[in-house]
Amino acid sequence: MSYPYQIKSLEQYHADYKRSVEEPESFWASVAENFVWKKKWDRVLDWNFTEPKIEWFGGAKLNITENCIDRHLATKADKPAFIWEPNNPEERTRVVTYARLHKRVCQFAQVLKNNGVKKGDRVCIYMGMVPELAYAVLGCARIGAIHSVIFGGFSAQSIADRLYDAQAEYIVTCDGAYRGGKDIPLKSVIDDALIGNRTVKRVIVYTRTRTPVSMIKGRDVWWEDEMEYALEQVEKDGVVSFPAEEMDAEDPLFILYTSGSTGKPKGVVHTCAGYMLWTTYTFVNVFQYQPGDIHFCTADIGWVTGHSYIVYGPLSAGATSMMFEGIPTWPDAGRFWDIVEKHKVNCIYTAPTAIRSLMNFGTDPIKGKDLSSLKVLGTVGEPINEEAWHWYDENIGKKKCPIIDTWWQTETGACLISNLAGVTPSKPSWATLPMPGVQPVLVDENGKEVTEKDENGILKGNLCIKAPWPGILRTTYGDHERCRTNYFATYPNLYFTGDGALKDEQGNYRITGRVDDVLNISGHRIGTAEVENAINMHSGVVESAVVGYPHDIKGQGIYAYVIYQGHHGDENSTRLDINLTVSKIIGPIAKPDKIQFVKGLPKTRSGKIMRRILRKIAEGETGNLGDTSTLLDPEVVEEIKVGRQ
Ligand code: PRX
Repeated sequence: MSYPYQIKSLEQYHADYKRSVEEPESFWASVAENFVWKKKWDRVLDWNFTEPKIEWFGGAKLNITENCIDRHLATKADKPAFIWEPNNPEERTRVVTYARLHKRVCQFAQVLKNNGVKKGDRVCIYMGMVPELAYAVLGCARIGAIHSVIFGGFSAQSIADRLYDAQAEYIVTCDGAYRGGKDIPLKSVIDDALIGNRTVKRVIVYTRTRTPVSMIKGRDVWWEDEMEYALEQVEKDGVVSFPAEEMDAEDPLFILYTSGSTGKPKGVVHTCAGYMLWTTYTFVNVFQYQPGDIHFCTADIGWVTGHSYIVYGPLSAGATSMMFEGIPTWPDAGRFWDIVEKHKVNCIYTAPTAIRSLMNFGTDPIKGKDLSSLKVLGTVGEPINEEAWHWYDENIGKKKCPIIDTWWQTETGACLISNLAGVTPSKPSWATLPMPGVQPVLVDENGKEVTEKDENGILKGNLCIKAPWPGILRTTYGDHERCRTNYFATYPNLYFTGDGALKDEQGNYRITGRVDDVLNISGHRIGTAEVENAINMHSGVVESAVVGYPHDIKGQGIYAYVIYQGHHGDENSTRLDINLTVSKIIGPIAKPDKIQFVKGLPKTRSGKIMRRILRKIAEGETGNLGDTSTLLDPEVVEEIKVGRQ
């Protein structure tokens, strides 16, 4: 498979970028010619950002799994689609060829059908990183069901909220998952999430850890039994088939919940055609994928990075995608490098948090490991500091591999700003240039484009995008108005990313972090309001305020100021209690790193918490707190400064 749309030089990048902006319809139509359609489009693009309404390839019919699987069968049936590395290095690696993937996805699509799942139904997937997770995702896509994958670290309460929001009737899960030294009892978490649930009709349970599970008659079924039965239906004379549902270009493909600055997480909706094009196009260009390369994205499929760069992007490009069940530090901090050596990985794509945490172990875990197969190193999820960038470059890439710093979001479907490996220049800690079709603009608080450069020629502002690219979110599930107000109403006719950015004179962008009340903890998004709501659920908590502070490994840590009445035991016991409550309401990723008990919070006369002050104190900057004259009770600040954790 060759990629006629692969950009091969800086000149071509500039030419393609220009054409994508001047003639977006013909540009994207020519890319779309490289995909399999059941029916071609009537119109390439129809949009406005006021409603918002965004339609790419309107009138086209397709099924993404025919692009990700069937079209490769003629030439790649025996080539690996996935190479799976288990948590325990002693366990056997599994290689899933395109033929095997086809068989399993057809089988699982039949399982879904046998259990009553129809096009448009919502299926929640809560599994560990096993190949069956990919079969489940693709099985849903095969029959046109909308998958909603939930990361295995989320709590029962979080799952219950997501099940309710999506009105999901089906769940696919595992008995348990292995992660490092831990066995996580996923099915038991699902059981808790289902207490009081009235919509879920069926739970399909894949056996991974063979931990004891309760199986409720009439509701819970074993994956293995269902798959065996389905095989008889999909296989005739050794030929496996299951018809791929004909989907409209704009039919929803999946929902993925993500945190915002207000309320509960929202269900970002991506649709079939645009998402397919965008993940494939960016995969081929950003990573400069060459047929036969082994691509290792270390993310979990529970996050958008896994959706786009473990499953859909690589498969649609006919690539070989590594899938790793475990964690980078188990059994020791050399695990990633063992995998690179063992499988001759060509590209590793990970988060700055992982790089920083491995940096802390020094270079011993790398010694003696053959990393010469590596051609490209990637990062995603949060700004990468220069120290981590250079460590990655020197110790992993041996200064021979381009580093791509890819900036994007759950809402953008795939990468928006990044250098193209070895084709466009990299600049440490800068994401650099926009992808073709992406028109960034930096605006001030009033939505006016910033034009005033600092003494180094740098512009600074809030990052917005002027026009739709194929992978932009279409709505938030069940609440289009929420989508409008969150992303399209802050600045008229612009998509607002929530990030701040710098732009240099060469047109490179550097993402500086969120400008809203969203934290980025180890590359994962968490809203401060969400954490506060969870803390406030804890009995005895009167009020709380949560801010981020710089954290050496996680990028940002969570600092909570809590007004609390009546400790049960000492303060530390209360801290542990509060952490447990947050783990139960959201999940362990949202646990505060620091909790400071305070008598009051700095508020304005109108009752608004002055987070700016709390942020500064959490950051250790207690000298200059700015103007505190509007505070209702300035003494509170002094007390908070003294009690800083
Ligand atoms: O703040 C940006 C940061 O992560 C946010 C998106 O988070 P999420 O939807 O969970 O997706 C993460 C994986 C795509 C962004 O708003 N972010 C992501 N990539 C980068 C980044 N910040 C700086 N540099 C990046 N490369």
